[in-house]
Amino acid sequence: MSEGEVTNADAALPPLRVGLLGLGTVGGGVVNVLTRNAEDIARRSGRRIDVVHASARNLGAPRICPLNGILLTTNPMDVVENPNVDVIIEVMGGMTPASMLIRRALELGKPVITANKALIAHEGNELFALAQAKGTVVAFEAAVAGGIPIIKAIREGLAGNRIEWLAGIINGTGNFILTAMRDEGRSFSDVLAEAQKLGYAEADPTFDVEGIDGAHKLSILAAIAFGMPLKFDSVYTEGISTLKTEDVRYARELGYQIKHLGFARRHENGVEMRVHPTLIPERRLLANVDGVKNAVLVWGDAVGPTLYYGAGAGADPTASAVVADLVDVARTLTADPNHRVPHLAVVPDQVSDLPILSMDDIQTGYYLRLTVLDQPGVLANIARTLADFGINIEAMIQKEASDETLHLPIVLLTHPMREAIMNDAIESLQALDEVCAPIVRLRVESLVS
Ligand code: HSE
Repeated sequence: MSEGEVTNADAALPPLRVGLLGLGTVGGGVVNVLTRNAEDIARRSGRRIDVVHASARNLGAPRICPLNGILLTTNPMDVVENPNVDVIIEVMGGMTPASMLIRRALELGKPVITANKALIAHEGNELFALAQAKGTVVAFEAAVAGGIPIIKAIREGLAGNRIEWLAGIINGTGNFILTAMRDEGRSFSDVLAEAQKLGYAEADPTFDVEGIDGAHKLSILAAIAFGMPLKFDSVYTEGISTLKTEDVRYARELGYQIKHLGFARRHENGVEMRVHPTLIPERRLLANVDGVKNAVLVWGDAVGPTLYYGAGAGADPTASAVVADLVDVARTLTADPNHRVPHLAVVPDQVSDLPILSMDDIQTGYYLRLTVLDQPGVLANIARTLADFGINIEAMIQKEASDETLHLPIVLLTHPMREAIMNDAIESLQALDEVCAPIVRLRVESLVS
């Protein structure tokens, strides 16, 4: 079809009029994608989609997109209240004023599309209820893993499965840092500075490196996978900022990669949700997701493992997810609100408030690095202490002392054990006279079933 040709879709319905809150990287990407792919998007939605009104903090700032035909304002509420705007896209980020603007749009019955993972993680339960009450929707594909259509995959594509667990590399900045530490032997702080310069990191990079951004995203994935409310506050979170290059190297010698993994699993007695540095076997596809890329591995009882990989951030990839939501919204505007795809994958009165397991009750393998005095009996004492707690050693490496202190590193991998028992064992190991520095403990996931 040639550009500008009028299709049946164009003729059938008037254009869907979009109000865009935020004209930065993601907002600019949305305008570019809508402009570039206008014909295909109209064919898929059954109508044209036009951005008619947009807000930005500074109208004079340089833009990555054309702005022709778009009414501009510095007041985002003008966009929300504009009666000629049918749907709102929120890509400003942050909690305030995004929360208030989205609530107002929903009050007005306007569908909202957002890339705001923090807002969905903290306030999603309320926003979904409000949308439901007003017969409209909040769409948030872009909030998790950028351009990867993981929300749709779990909520719709895997709807026939009981989802057992999922594991994801869901923060590109963290993965970029870990990849460079591994490949270039650089320190954490050195690579973080580069990630910030390249624009990958959040405004506050502690969100990336301390696992908060990952916890936002994991809480959203778990809620959809298990049909439960969002429980961001219950996600156990550990960052990568204290990770040492030598642990990345030792993990590799043992056949593992360290990834900042988000992991959620359903058990009979509840759900575990955790984000922390994790050793995963290097032969797993997930272990080979490098740089700023994201990937999510989802295990369904019927399908087995499925893996979703792609760009987790950036203008066009995030716009890809936002525009997919826009097409969905355009399609669903004509559908009965009670028969639309539910926000949390199950119909609202079936969302079930599953208990969240304490970290004491999780069971996983462990990587331990002990710094010990080079003297007879050290290994025997360590092995005996672990044996006393019923902990089985799977692999071990011992390095030569690297200085005159005669301190040497012993690195151990253990078989899976309950975390509470491992904590007690680490306390006992730490108390051994020969152990002369804090023990480094990382968790190991085999990701097989
Ligand atoms: N700071 C985020 C990341 C951006 O690094 O993944 C996308 O959410």
